[in-house]
Amino acid sequence: MIKVLFVCLGNICRSPMAEYMFKDLVKKRNIDNKFIIESRATSSEEIGNDMDIRAKRKLSENNIPISKHTAKKLTIDDYYNFDYIIGMEKANIINILRIIKEDKDEKVYRLLDFTNKKKDIDDPWYTNNFDITYNELNEGLNSFLTYLIEKGEV
Ligand code: 4NP
Repeated sequence: MIKVLFVCLGNICRSPMAEYMFKDLVKKRNIDNKFIIESRATSSEEIGNDMDIRAKRKLSENNIPISKHTAKKLTIDDYYNFDYIIGMEKANIINILRIIKEDKDEKVYRLLDFTNKKKDIDDPWYTNNFDITYNELNEGLNSFLTYLIEKGEV
């Protein structure tokens, strides 16, 4: 089982979008039984809240199924329970490391580092551009899956 945790600041926009998009991606390839996929926040601001309505709308426009979402904060136990901890931007990675203290098993990645772009995914909470976010997540998630396949993990 490959355990993947997507992480952003609030766990109401980017990381739940990544969670549901990656669930859809692996389901369409009939490999969903090999994965556990969840998402978390680094901040406490939105804990307990549902996904942002704009993020839900963008997923719905692209026929990505969702289930009931409740924003949760990353804990140090998550570090031990997951194989891949995937953040959205440099600031996220710094906040992840602050929570987990030390990435001794080298599990922490930035999503677009799996692509040629090697850049941050901007926060759509501030940019209000969920199209760019969706497209960048899509590119990052496909590259991440290719990485796992090439590594022989899937
Ligand atoms: P996310 O977006 O990290 O993609 O979920 C944000 C959601 C909420 C806040 C910031 C970013 N906030 O400041 O409450």
